[in-house]
Amino acid sequence: MKVLILHGPNLALLGTREPGVYGAATLDEINQSVRTLSKELGVTVDCRQSDVEGELVSWIGRAGAEDVDGIVINPAAYTHTSVALRDAISASGLPVVEVHISNTHAREAFRHQSYTAAVCLGQIQGFGPEGYRLALRGLVSHLS
Ligand code: DQA
Repeated sequence: MKVLILHGPNLALLGTREPGVYGAATLDEINQSVRTLSKELGVTVDCRQSDVEGELVSWIGRAGAEDVDGIVINPAAYTHTSVALRDAISASGLPVVEVHISNTHAREAFRHQSYTAAVCLGQIQGFGPEGYRLALRGLVSHLS
């Protein structure tokens, strides 16, 4: 089983980016913890980050052809703006789990709307970096 882990814009800055909101873990540390869990679960993960909306759209669009079984994505700010990402998720036909490190509903009003959540299998937010592991567990359980 192959799972794509996608991180959206500004998430390469984790560790130094607003640690009061996002915690102290770096993106590498988060990816490492996801890889450790993937070995326990017996699945393959491919972790990628991009600040570019079109690149994320292309990765989702090619996922089926790359034999990806499901996707965990933190679309970051594109969550609240991107019809293109929503359409890519919908078109992929793959189960996708949306993750947010923070609880977006406890933050500014513009973060309360997600363009992507409605076309996802589910959404996990507010649990910090652990959310990625929870999402992977949920996705693998759904696929098994
Ligand atoms: C985020 C929440 C978004 O509102 C924000 O734009 C991010 C990170 C999160 O993981 O909490 O960049 O997706």
